[in-house]
Amino acid sequence: MEASPDTEPASGRPHRESEEFASDVRGMFDRIAGVYDLMNSTMTAGLHHQWRQRAVDRAVVGPGSDALDICCGTGDLALELRRRIGPDGRVVGSDFSEPMLDLARAKSGEQGLPVEFGWADALELPYGEESFDAVTVGFGARNLADLDRGLAEMARVLRPGGRAVVLEITRPQREPLSSFYSLWFDRAVPLLGQLAGDPDAYGYLPESVRSFPDPPGLAAKMDVAGFTRIRWLLLAGGIIAIHSGTTPGGPEGAA
Ligand SMILES: C[S@@+](CC[C@H](N)C(=O)[O-])C[C@H]1O[C@@H](n2cnc3c(N)ncnc32)[C@H](O)[C@@H]1O
Repeated sequence: MEASPDTEPASGRPHRESEEFASDVRGMFDRIAGVYDLMNSTMTAGLHHQWRQRAVDRAVVGPGSDALDICCGTGDLALELRRRIGPDGRVVGSDFSEPMLDLARAKSGEQGLPVEFGWADALELPYGEESFDAVTVGFGARNLADLDRGLAEMARVLRPGGRAVVLEITRPQREPLSSFYSLWFDRAVPLLGQLAGDPDAYGYLPESVRSFPDPPGLAAKMDVAGFTRIRWLLLAGGIIAIHSGTTPGGPEGAA
């Protein structure tokens, strides 16, 4: 369910449609880059690695594929793509936060997994049409100022029959998980954010999940962006959704 554009965010943050929204989000990720991985592991009890692996399963990449991970942050999803793709093929990770990209480059060096990490706005990707076999986005889609445009950009840079994968946090619909989720996300996460020294950023997290479409809503947006064979998978009792879609024109019968 999407928030109405007229809804004033409780935090006083700029409206998603405003020009300040993207720079506000970028500033926030610049600030929290140093604690981002630790906070992820704390908030998910380390499960985020498994979720990324499931997302990469859905990207259906193999040796020699060309893959792009947008909103790559500190690089974990792009590095997992490189593990699957092996030494041949192209793996690109892009983000608009330089501090996040610096950490991703350091990790790529430490793990001996070469990825081209570079600056790019997900709403205006600097790659040509039909450049990649797969495009992924992990926990980034809900931060985009214009989700429809982000999905359209993913479709544009994919080859015919290419795969898009969106890994996101979603709100579980059923009890008892929905109550636990509210307690954890709306109360505990902002408190953890205070401990991490950035209450604003971790107050934004539940707010951004609330204003993101539910799984059928995201699937409908992927349909409008031109994807076919749209599927989603719910993990962790419905807290995590992995959507995948294919660009038209690929081999018949591809899953
Ligand atoms: C929650 S982090 C996710 C990082 C990483 N994908 C992961 O799985 O942990 C969201 C990332 O999206 C990036 N981002 C948000 N909007 C963006 C945009 N319009 N263009 C590029 N990067 C963007 C932020 O800088 C941040 O690194």
